[in-house]
Amino acid sequence: MASALRYKDKVTIVTGGSKGIGQGCVEVFVEAGSKVVFCSRGETEGRDLEARMNAQGPGSALFVRCDMSSEDDIKNLINTTVEKYGQIDCVINNAGTHPPVRKIDDISADDFRRLLDINLVSYFLVAKYAMPYLRKTKGCILQDSSLVAEIGQPGSCTYVASKGGVTSLTKALAIDEAANGVRVNTFAPGNIWTPMWEDGANQTRDPEQCKRNGENAQLLGRFGTIRECGLTCLYLAADATFCTGINILLSGGAELNYGMKNPLQKDPTEFL
Ligand SMILES: NC(=O)c1ccc[n+]([C@@H]2O[C@H](COP(=O)([O-])OP(=O)(O)OC[C@H]3O[C@@H](n4cnc5c(N)ncnc54)[C@H](OP(=O)(O)O)[C@@H]3O)[C@@H](O)[C@H]2O)c1
Repeated sequence: MASALRYKDKVTIVTGGSKGIGQGCVEVFVEAGSKVVFCSRGETEGRDLEARMNAQGPGSALFVRCDMSSEDDIKNLINTTVEKYGQIDCVINNAGTHPPVRKIDDISADDFRRLLDINLVSYFLVAKYAMPYLRKTKGCILQDSSLVAEIGQPGSCTYVASKGGVTSLTKALAIDEAANGVRVNTFAPGNIWTPMWEDGANQTRDPEQCKRNGENAQLLGRFGTIRECGLTCLYLAADATFCTGINILLSGGAELNYGMKNPLQKDPTEFL
């Protein structure tokens, strides 16, 4: 078993853990022996995963309902964790959303502010309220950014900006908290097959073609899996004890090589 008890009895918080990448983290950390507290807005998926994880072990799972746009909900998530387990060793800031693809003309300032509240300010708040406990355990924070924070993405300027903020927040916190023994690192997924990706594909004219394009964007010719994301996070939490402020790309090589990127070039094969 790849994750065999490498995080036994450590207490981990995963935001947005009911589905997708967060679910992959919950599953891998429970498999590694961790006591995992995870949250989302939707209770059904959360309770189902909690029951499945507790039946499976060897770690355990506790679901707490939390909307990341509510500071009170975030305080409750941290307080519930500490009341139940008395400590926090690792926080995985993962919950986030990708708004529909649009040009800047069709995005309002309020749209942007609401997105920042979920994708960036919530990461700051979880880190802020967990930090006193992380300092005691010399724990770590793992922040889910995105490959697009490095390379951009069409029709997604606010999302890309929110993820760039996450990567920068990591570096600044890594500097401030090094003296307290708290490590802060980023993981930046490329195309990972999750409900978010599937929902986005289903909003296009040709979902199957969109999915094939998603697979073929990687040198490795496939989507990443939620388990691969969980295992990367376990590596950062349990093994990468000399790493702070870094950014691991989980991208299957999508950022490498030249591509046919000139939007004015009608027939890209003409270059060949
Ligand atoms: N999938 C990719 O290819 C990819 C690539 C780069 C980065 N990412 C990043 O990875 C993270 C997870 O993405 P994913 O693809 O796994 O998404 P997903 O499949 O939509 O899962 C998102 C999780 O976050 C929860 N969530 C969303 N909004 C929330 C809120 N306001 N409060 C509390 N929980 C909330 C969802 O549950 P509820 O809806 O029930 O609240 C769910 O558990 C995001 O930050 C995303 O930007 C994903």
